Amino acid sequence: MAAKRIAIIGAGNMARTRGRAFLETGQAEICSVSSRRMASAKACASELASDVYFDDYRRLAESNPDAILLEVPHKVQDEITLWALEAGFDLLIGGCLASNLGSGEQIAALAKTKGCVVEVGYQRRYDPAWKKIKQLVESKELGIPVMSTSMALWNADPEKWYYDQETSGGMPLTHMSYCYLNAIRWILGKPIWVSAVANKLVETGPTRVLEESCGAHITFENGSFLSATASYVGPEGMSSAETRFVFTDGGIQTNDDNLSIKIFRGGEDEIRAFCKTPSPFVRQARAFLEAVESRGNGQNPPDDAILDNRIAECISCSVREQRAILVYEEKC
Ligand SMILES: NC(=O)c1ccc[n+]([C@@H]2O[C@H](COP(=O)([O-])OP(=O)(O)OC[C@H]3O[C@@H](n4cnc5c(N)ncnc54)[C@H](OP(=O)(O)O)[C@@H]3O)[C@@H](O)[C@H]2O)c1
Repeated sequence: MAAKRIAIIGAGNMARTRGRAFLETGQAEICSVSSRRMASAKACASELASDVYFDDYRRLAESNPDAILLEVPHKVQDEITLWALEAGFDLLIGGCLASNLGSGEQIAALAKTKGCVVEVGYQRRYDPAWKKIKQLVESKELGIPVMSTSMALWNADPEKWYYDQETSGGMPLTHMSYCYLNAIRWILGKPIWVSAVANKLVETGPTRVLEESCGAHITFENGSFLSATASYVGPEGMSSAETRFVFTDGGIQTNDDNLSIKIFRGGEDEIRAFCKTPSPFVRQARAFLEAVESRGNGQNPPDDAILDNRIAECISCSVREQRAILVYEEKC
């Protein structure tokens, strides 16, 4: 496969992380970086071995890209995604599919009409530890799934767009879907019911996210359920990444470093360790390049990723209306 030319839109943390991941595949080069401010675009481009940068993403065609990496706040991401699909570009969207379900539906439909490859940013599906958990569930080696628990604490910067309800689309979509709803639903299957509670106790201003801390219960078609908590409030240094799965004949616990899992069965436990490199970002970049080449799909096509928008809206609706929501049957 000839090296693909990737144009990046956005010049923040994740533009750099995923830009480096593309370079690490050895199958891509960064042909330009576009951002809101020229200085940001220039600095990011030079770190990624590109000397082409713009302060208007509409100019990126001048850099002759094969595909686009999109790494911007979610609200502006909606507008740029529609522009990119109308122009016929394949896209790796580093975040969720869209800032809300309505935009997500529009984007999924347009991607299909235009025949564009779209991959959404849930890189945990390329993580060998999480792939192993999925394989253990599918093989029924530990019996059938009973339940899972997760907690994800992250002290978001109140001055950044993550804390803004409108720009981010809210905490359940921006943070909780990554940590770890998307990966757990990938493993446990079709979600049926959502019931959630939330509060907002630290950043209480009117533009701040509505669900600053949130607890959600999700039941799945196979009878298992997930109890998930996530928050932008958390004591520095407290670990929170030890997701647990309980099965009829055993269990699995992930470790904070995501490099190993502990498997419990027959009264004994065993640690399975996984290789740190290539990182899930590099694996996902490689899968995206292959999908562009073969006109196939990665692990996160729009038709699947839209479910995270739907679940996030069900969570917010459940909090607001203080009732359980049927994921597929109700419009919130
Ligand atoms: N997969 C993961 O583990 C993971 C982790 C964190 C975040 N994310 C996702 O990654 C994505 C990017 O987040 P981030 O943390 O990199 O954000 P960030 O550091 O705040 O960077 C955002 C960038 O977007 C640019 N931007 C804002 N408005 C723009 C516009 N109208 N046109 C073009 N560029 C614009 C900003 O421009 P200027 O610098 O020019 O002002 C900035 O460079 C989000 O979707 C987020 O949810 C994923």
